[in-house]
Amino acid sequence: MVKAVVLGAAGGIGQPLSLLLKNSHLVTELGLYDIVNTPGVAADLSHIATPAKVEGYLPPDDGLKKTLTGADIVVIPAGVPRKPGMTRDDLFKINAGIVEGLATGIATVAPKAFVLVISNPVNSTVPIVVEVFKKHGVFNPKRIFGVTTLDVVRASTFVAEILGDFKKAPDVTVPVVGGHSGVTIVPLLSQSSHPLPSDFTGDKYDALVHRIQFGGDEVVKAKDGAGSATLSMAYAGAEFAFKVIKAKNGEKGIIAPSFVHLTADAAGGEALKKEIGADLEYFSAPVELGPEGVVKINPLGKITDAEKKLIEAAVPDLSKNIQTGIAFTKKSN
Ligand code: NAI
Repeated sequence: MVKAVVLGAAGGIGQPLSLLLKNSHLVTELGLYDIVNTPGVAADLSHIATPAKVEGYLPPDDGLKKTLTGADIVVIPAGVPRKPGMTRDDLFKINAGIVEGLATGIATVAPKAFVLVISNPVNSTVPIVVEVFKKHGVFNPKRIFGVTTLDVVRASTFVAEILGDFKKAPDVTVPVVGGHSGVTIVPLLSQSSHPLPSDFTGDKYDALVHRIQFGGDEVVKAKDGAGSATLSMAYAGAEFAFKVIKAKNGEKGIIAPSFVHLTADAAGGEALKKEIGADLEYFSAPVELGPEGVVKINPLGKITDAEKKLIEAAVPDLSKNIQTGIAFTKKSN
């Protein structure tokens, strides 16, 4: 029995994500919350002949509390998306407060739920959720995740494209580490399950790295003011949610990159900091999942000099983004 909750369920990501969760037999209850339209989205989804019982709430009459009661996994795509010319950090002013409010609800009503943060800027919103949970005395570093799966999905798709074989796309895996914006997105192309040709170096390599780091901009530009990635994000968010649920159900060997807190007692966090060469509090790394959440934060392993340079370039921005999130919660206390 798994109750999944989507906060921001009526939005561009929220609706298709809720559809994918409703379509899965892994979910037996689906709680939808938004400040608009959730009863309609819930009524619509509730006619689909799959096991999950669907309910949708708005803020009045303790809607957030009702949605979160009994939640096992909470996915947060609430907040404003980018328009052309905006970076993810430009969203901070609005989304920080939204995420803080929702995190307070989760910390109060469902403190043991797995929390999957999609709202941008992920590098700052995850620290906000963690600080709120700390304030409520319910923080468990194993259960709070920044969703960076879309970077992995993009990297895998672009590599399959270069290999000239789209049929391979579902099997290609490229670990993407660091954070989730611009230069903090670090694809480890040398560890691709399907290696790139040996002459894929120089400008070609740089162009692919750039495309993975700024792939979101392609969508923002093409949507021309109507938002950012929603459908590919819903796909990626659902993929990650299913991994968390399968691990909760006891399936072994599930590993996925995610932006997590590198707490000293979470196995692997300290070793990873040494590998990165910086005392960062958060990093996106391949994480092994189990019934209680993070089992182990895996090391980066063997990486090339070019990848080392990308990590060095990511650290200053990442560190700044993390501090921005932490400082926001301190200020609003
Ligand atoms: P959207 O504007 O279409 O939907 C956002 C939804 O959040 C709206 O329905 C809105 O009513 C709702 N909302 C606003 N305040 C709320 C509150 N206090 N409580 C509950 N719901 C609230 O935006 P979209 O395209 O769905 O994007 C959502 C977020 O996801 C953005 O911050 C975007 O930057 C981020 N995103 C993250 C990605 C990732 O890889 N992690 C990729 C793409 C987008």
